[in-house]
Amino acid sequence: MTGPFTLSPLPYDADALEPVISAKTVGFHYHKHHQTYVDTLNKLVAGTRYADMKLEEVIQATLGKEADKEKKIFNNAAQVWNHDFYWNSLATGPTILSGKLKEAVERDFGDAKSLIKELAAAGKEQFGSGWVWLVSKGGRLAVEKTANAVDPMAKGTNCLITVDVWEHAYYLDYQNERPKYLEEVLAKLLNWDFAAENLDKEDHVVRAAAE
Ligand SMILES: [Fe+2]
Repeated sequence: MTGPFTLSPLPYDADALEPVISAKTVGFHYHKHHQTYVDTLNKLVAGTRYADMKLEEVIQATLGKEADKEKKIFNNAAQVWNHDFYWNSLATGPTILSGKLKEAVERDFGDAKSLIKELAAAGKEQFGSGWVWLVSKGGRLAVEKTANAVDPMAKGTNCLITVDVWEHAYYLDYQNERPKYLEEVLAKLLNWDFAAENLDKEDHVVRAAAE
């Protein structure tokens, strides 16, 4: 998808994540915050070379750029991508950690409980706005945290799952209690099927490159 960029459909109804995340939070988060990143991005890239790029390419091309306009393009493009990824990282019902992903989690974290503990700690420690990620890097899974709009994908890292730790993601439901939001989301909403799909994609890329 090149520009003009569009708001991807929410993969479920706004109330589907209740009671962990309220319909009110999802409504503001998706229709106001996420939509604004899309609209701002389109205004910023209009008439520039970025208008003909895919969203991922815009993010990678503007990462670390010094010019004010390119910084703004990076921030808004990355926030569009991050939010698409976040909505898909959440499931409306329980998903099961299984197969190759389960094996990788056990290999690199010991068990799912330890992984969740690490995600919670990273999300809690992220100072100010940002994101917490499960990524696959050089054949190993890892937890990363990023500030503001930054995402590991910008540097080519394969992201498996993310949780938004900007205040707008939880303030209406949990006020200032980010750890409580993380505890609930990590225990009840993580979409392991989405994470497994992302891990599989990497295998296809590696296999295609080797052939
Ligand atoms: Fe957000």
